[in-house]
Amino acid sequence: MNVMLPPMGFNTWNTFGASINEKVVMETADAMVANGLLEAGYKYLVIDDCWSEYERDPVTKKIVPCKEKFPNGMKYVSDYVHSKGLLFGMYSCAGVRTCADYPGSFDYEFLDAETFAEYGVDFLKYDFCFKPQTANGPMLYRRMGMALRACGRDILFSACNWGVDDVHSWIRSTGAHMYRSTYDINDSFESFTEIAGSQIDKLCYSAPNCFNDIDMLTIGMYGKGNVGSTGCNDIDYKMQFVLWCMYSAPLMIGCDVRNMSDAAKALLTNKDLIAINQDPDVRPPFVATTHPWNNRCKVLVKMLADNEYAFAFFNMSDHKAKVPLYFFDAGVPASSGYGFDMTDVFTGENIGIKSDYMCPVVDSHETLLYRAKLVKI
Ligand code: GLA
Repeated sequence: MNVMLPPMGFNTWNTFGASINEKVVMETADAMVANGLLEAGYKYLVIDDCWSEYERDPVTKKIVPCKEKFPNGMKYVSDYVHSKGLLFGMYSCAGVRTCADYPGSFDYEFLDAETFAEYGVDFLKYDFCFKPQTANGPMLYRRMGMALRACGRDILFSACNWGVDDVHSWIRSTGAHMYRSTYDINDSFESFTEIAGSQIDKLCYSAPNCFNDIDMLTIGMYGKGNVGSTGCNDIDYKMQFVLWCMYSAPLMIGCDVRNMSDAAKALLTNKDLIAINQDPDVRPPFVATTHPWNNRCKVLVKMLADNEYAFAFFNMSDHKAKVPLYFFDAGVPASSGYGFDMTDVFTGENIGIKSDYMCPVVDSHETLLYRAKLVKI
């Protein structure tokens, strides 16, 4: 199975945690279609942890769906999700138990992959809790990677070992299509900026068929739900989405899509932002200029297909600031006679050809994003 662009979808964990059931999942499927999320590219609906009974079936050894939460079984839910034009995702764990203490797939990888295929699963998130200490992490991911490839169904393999054991250096060899590179996000400005900051040097390992996954988005949660924390406002969420898009990170929505704010819906379905995330060249951004004395202000530049570029100006500090960019730092000195013809992605305004140096004033927590073409002046 080839996954050439960052996967997009929804995952139940951020909002619902253990409070999942057939009704929530089916209503979410309806809402993903009604709110234009599927049309915007969010095609995977993923059920995270807490979907099963506490123990495997003593005879078949299969994991059994929780009868109370999923009275009609998982195939029923999967059929419903597919009937909406979406793809269906589920969750298991490389350890003996999942992080929320349900049966994990350790030593049952091949049986479980077959079971997921029977359910009609298209995506498997594979966590890392409760692993026997001497069991080798890379080997366990390889085992499930192989089981999925042999199960007779195309299943996207979403590894989730939180970035431990230098995961970036071996995860591609396991067959994983994306890999969580950090510990869990919570709905706060500090959490998502720290997560993004921790991966800027690791983005060169992210490419088609295995993307660096910096966790589910908290956009639209406003402090509610299972990973609520202090919450963010819409300005913060704008920064979160620009970061995820600049990184070509998987876009997995975590808010309750049945009750989305207009601002969250508009942000998450913004075609111009999604186009940067889904750019076919899948190149990592680089830090062009960092503010000389305020390292919470910086400019990231990402090469896009067809001689285009994205420039993102971030002010992560608590004060309004001028955020400098020397085009020399982006690779184009003034002496070249070239400049960038820049259009504001949020307003659509063309700000003309910029070269040498620019230094916009950026409000606290604000983000400016330009799409540009490199042209002869
Ligand atoms: C871990 C993962 C989370 C989520 C929970 C479920 O913490 O990192 O994304 O899947 O487990 O228990």
